[in-house]
Amino acid sequence: MVFNPIHPYDSGTKRFWFDDERHEERKLSGQLSLEVIPVKLRPSMASIAGKKGLKGVEIGVGQLQNSINILNNMDIAQLILVDLNYPKTPTAQNSIQDHRVTFVQGNSLQALEMLPNDLDFIYLDGHHEYNFVIHEITKALKKIKAGGIIAGHDYDQSGVNLAVQTLFMNTWMFTKRKPTLYVESCLDEHNQYPLEYLEAGFPIDWWMTVEQEMKDPQFRINHLRNG
Ligand SMILES: C[S@@+](CC[C@H](N)C(=O)[O-])C[C@H]1O[C@@H](n2cnc3c(N)ncnc32)[C@H](O)[C@@H]1O
Repeated sequence: MVFNPIHPYDSGTKRFWFDDERHEERKLSGQLSLEVIPVKLRPSMASIAGKKGLKGVEIGVGQLQNSINILNNMDIAQLILVDLNYPKTPTAQNSIQDHRVTFVQGNSLQALEMLPNDLDFIYLDGHHEYNFVIHEITKALKKIKAGGIIAGHDYDQSGVNLAVQTLFMNTWMFTKRKPTLYVESCLDEHNQYPLEYLEAGFPIDWWMTVEQEMKDPQFRINHLRNG
């Protein structure tokens, strides 16, 4: 199976993997049945890539695969990276020395409290369980300026999916305006995923524009009805 090579955020003219050697290995062993196009940015980040002097946060950075793409392909003034663990690879350790980066080692829920409140984006990719993500979302919303985006990875995971739906419904209820929720396949490399999962177009990025500031102390998340 071949992915549609025309991705809205990529010209589709060049094709490569970030880890060419591994790609080659998988191709030779017959494991690789799909062609992956070179997407340097995940769709949520690509949606604001034209903006200048961006100030953003990524929660859950692992070995900085996504963070490095953000640093290399967006006009970033400041990028705050939060993770429970210090990165292990030399590339990741080197990248957190970038003058635009502030690395915060710790729990996302505490780190979110300390963030500036004029952010252009927050990208959530740490803990993926509903109870956790919904708390992250509630805190993150108050830190994003009007016109910024709240976003994240793995919308295809049930905890994330329900949390994002809950965000959507609550934002609608609070602002009295139906928000637009975007979901889109991430076509950058995901070495650890089963091939059939990738072939289905997963993992999926999600994002929503914060049309008006949500710093109002009255704003709180109501959990969705179930039955
Ligand atoms: C899937 S990895 C992130 C991958 C990265 N966003 C990327 O795309 O390259 C998830 C990371 O979240 C971190 N994490 C999990 N729970 C967290 C929490 N409560 N606070 C901060 N980081 C957390 C883990 O340590 C791990 O490094």
